[in-house]
Amino acid sequence: MIDSNTQLYCIIGNPVRHSKSPAIHNAWFQQHHINAVYLAFEIDEVSKGVAALKTLNIQGASITIPFKESLMDHLDWIDDEALNIGAVNTIKIKNGKLLGYNTDHKAAISPLKPFGIKDKKVCIIGAGGAAQAVAYGIYKEKGNIVIINRDKIKGEKLALKYNADFIPMAKIDKLDDFSADIIINTTSIGMYPNVENMAFPSQYIKSHMVVMDIIYNPLKTKLLNLAHIKGCTTIGGLSMFMHQGVAQFKLWTGLTPDIDLMRRAMINGEN
Ligand code: ATR
Repeated sequence: MIDSNTQLYCIIGNPVRHSKSPAIHNAWFQQHHINAVYLAFEIDEVSKGVAALKTLNIQGASITIPFKESLMDHLDWIDDEALNIGAVNTIKIKNGKLLGYNTDHKAAISPLKPFGIKDKKVCIIGAGGAAQAVAYGIYKEKGNIVIINRDKIKGEKLALKYNADFIPMAKIDKLDDFSADIIINTTSIGMYPNVENMAFPSQYIKSHMVVMDIIYNPLKTKLLNLAHIKGCTTIGGLSMFMHQGVAQFKLWTGLTPDIDLMRRAMINGEN
């Protein structure tokens, strides 16, 4: 029941209307009988968003495109891993202070761990906030990283940080051949409504590859569908999304929510 003691949590980003975070966090609040609601706020200016969090005494926030990096300048404290990554996707507000965390990197790595990451060639497409977290996670697991990105400066900067190779996106389909053990798309290429777009050239996809996409709308992007047809192991974005959400809920409430229940609910469209 919503009353005058109901606590407020939210996601801030732009766009946010596609986000499934309100569905999962509100369901978990209900499941655990916590008097709280979680809303989505589409904001234009990060400084105004931060001011609103403080003014309205919001207890916690998820941060999404395009604020994961720019928001860091406005926080009172940032944990070491988020600092190393250079991106924050979670805020907890304690005694009026804004504390920043990153729950993306462990969430990205956990579905890949069973296939082995150490010494594997891991191709990361993108160099934004999500790519920063994925690259950090892969580097910690001792994978050999190759970055592919549209923006050369951003791509080279990320590659330099993790001792990785860099290939400009414009050049990728002009190579004689390209191979890797793991391919991870961290860009929005292929996301609804542009579902016909693919972040990686189909001619390089081979059956031995593990292909992962962090997009969860659609649940299976064109890249994953094609990789599946070619015999690859595929990992959809729902897995990372759910794991980062679980870690956020734990940070905010100290409770571990039921991930399988939510995965089934989301796939069945019940939320
Ligand atoms: P997030 O926090 O979700 O990672 P972001 O920081 O805005 O979001 O990063 C988005 C990434 O997707 C960037 O690497 C971006 O490429 P650029 O660095 O060249 O801007 C990439 N991206 C998004 N749309 C793209 C498109 N249509 N073609 C190529 N790359 C795209």
